[in-house]
Amino acid sequence: MSRVLKSARLAGAIAAAAGLVLCAGVALAQPQGKIKVGLMLPYTGTFAALGTAITNGFKLAVDENGGKIGGREIEYFTVDDESDPAKAPDNANKLVKRDQVDVLVGTVHSGVALAMSKVARDNNTLLIIPNAGADEITGPLCAANVFRVSFTNSQPGLAMGQVMAEQKKKTAVTITWKYAAGEESTGGFKEAFEKGGGKVVKELTLPFPQVEFQPLLTEIASLKPDAVYVFFAGGGAVKFVKDYAAAGLKDKIPLLGPGFLTDGTLEAQGDAAQGLLTTLHYADALDNPKNNAFRTAFKAKAGRDADVYAVQGYDSAQLLGIGLEAVKGNLDSEAALHKAMREARIDSPRGPISFSKSQEVVQNIYLRKASGGLNKVAGIAVENLADPGTGCKL
Ligand code: PHB
Repeated sequence: MSRVLKSARLAGAIAAAAGLVLCAGVALAQPQGKIKVGLMLPYTGTFAALGTAITNGFKLAVDENGGKIGGREIEYFTVDDESDPAKAPDNANKLVKRDQVDVLVGTVHSGVALAMSKVARDNNTLLIIPNAGADEITGPLCAANVFRVSFTNSQPGLAMGQVMAEQKKKTAVTITWKYAAGEESTGGFKEAFEKGGGKVVKELTLPFPQVEFQPLLTEIASLKPDAVYVFFAGGGAVKFVKDYAAAGLKDKIPLLGPGFLTDGTLEAQGDAAQGLLTTLHYADALDNPKNNAFRTAFKAKAGRDADVYAVQGYDSAQLLGIGLEAVKGNLDSEAALHKAMREARIDSPRGPISFSKSQEVVQNIYLRKASGGLNKVAGIAVENLADPGTGCKL
């Protein structure tokens, strides 16, 4: 064999070897296989409809992206968390340890989410919260691997307290289930209302998820405040709004709340909800191209109208998509993944959203009025509200 031929073969062999190395490099950079998404949400109990709407919203965004996120197909693992905080550590561990999910998505109930966020922190599993607003999660308990696309519980309450004080209401009574979400929501209302010159004269509670409202309604009738601010959602919200009207209070004392009071519930509440004023980061009738397209697509997929929970599920998948696109589907590029998610600008059906340093969504809070089956926008209560993330060290 001539020397020229030999060296040509050698060069070929080196090139082939280099090619293999290159291929191996590419294989490492672009992981194969499906991304395992663990959906831990309520599918039974008073928040069942909320969990289902979040799931359908998440899956809609994935479907619109050809069934993939960050170029990878999705495998879903699902747990019904029953909105039961006592079962939450076991449920989250099933997804993280048994199913080895890459990302946890959940949940609705603040008490359950607090337990989930601990499991996520302990195992360094990416967690996207599509609803539960427990203030601490993006406060002292914040973590680089924990993101929230929904709200902090005090936000809509603060906005409504401000609006009521501006309307020169003097006294209010608050009512809620006694747990983190309700207490933080009514706490936000009280803070802003009293700062504006009002006074919360009584704070009434009942255990979650009880719905025996009659004694509370009797007390309101005798206290005769200028307004009543309540935190209830899902099945509990349907019953409270109907009971309030049936007790003859609706036309006497304005009933107010965060928009959860009338979101996804208007059909079941019927006339009892007409005209109710609420504050929230979404309104059915927001007229922007993204919301209009989203509502049509959601209805076609889920067979029912979209609500705030559907939006939050949809945006959870959008956020994950932005992160995974940035790292070409490679979840191991953790720092880059978190950075891309933190810096995400999302075209949400609620309007444009971004994230604060504590990885909490920054968004408008709308004042809405329930009218003819829709929550219509009555104004922007607070623009681009960012949670202060007090106590977060990120
Ligand atoms: C919560 O527990 O954080 C929670 C539950 C239902 C809602 C909103 C917040 O609609």
